Amino acid sequence: MLMDQHQLTQAAEFVAQHWPAARPRAGLMLGSGWDAAADFLRIRASLPYSDIPGLGASTVAGHSGQLHWCEAFGVETFLFQGRRHFYEGAGWTPVAVPVYLLKHFGAQLLFLTNAAGGIRDDLRAGDLMVLSDHLNLIGSNPLIGPHEPCWGPRFPDLSRLYVPSLGHRLARIFQALDIPFRSGVYAALPGPTYETPAEVRMLRALGADAVGMSTVPEALLAHAAGLKVGALSCIANAAAGLQAQTLSHQDVIETSQAALPRLRAVLENLWKELPDELVSTQPVA
Ligand code: HPA
Repeated sequence: MLMDQHQLTQAAEFVAQHWPAARPRAGLMLGSGWDAAADFLRIRASLPYSDIPGLGASTVAGHSGQLHWCEAFGVETFLFQGRRHFYEGAGWTPVAVPVYLLKHFGAQLLFLTNAAGGIRDDLRAGDLMVLSDHLNLIGSNPLIGPHEPCWGPRFPDLSRLYVPSLGHRLARIFQALDIPFRSGVYAALPGPTYETPAEVRMLRALGADAVGMSTVPEALLAHAAGLKVGALSCIANAAAGLQAQTLSHQDVIETSQAALPRLRAVLENLWKELPDELVSTQPVA
């Protein structure tokens, strides 16, 4: 289950062979339901995940599994259309490859998106929640293993993982788009089962505002590697026990589809403002 550092290096060599001129400044990871939310990015070239060593094809419906080399508003971007999850059973390597590629190619920022279940009372299906912090309840950590200096210090500090400046920018963008601004704590569980109602009550008591099965591992890795991290959840449903209906992945995707115009507008406006954000970035060590 440990990250295979050799495969990570091979992934970077493979992408560098195909795209020797790539110099992404940012990465964007599209989660469940977000598949079409980044079509404002102009694609220069694409590679299927299945061709990239260590990454492999996505096994989850609604995750295309394509890496696109793109550009918009002067920001060269690696767009990860679909994510690999720990619950897919292939260990941490496929989860780490996108972050390793960004680090290798010199990107300064990773923006993560996902679908999540809402726990806090004011979070309704279709709402967007900016991550202010997280609870890692996956029961593991992608950084477990021999210490690799590319992932920063042995004991990375997490007191400011999700950069506040991105949250402030998003607050302004939401206001301009007339979207209610919500931010909160995202609890990551391993999945692939949804939670029981008792687990959701526990998560609420622990301070979680929303729950999902992703995002936290990539955020940990990117932060450790010295990238700025921002993340946004589309609340796809009220978490188990908070509403009468049962949960299904199909419903999750459909709710996010309905929110698609908003998801797209937020990302496009964020990318317009990214050059300022990147200028203010501390140099990556
Ligand atoms: N729980 C976990 N992950 C999810 C949910 C949920 O309710 N909705 C979308 N992803």
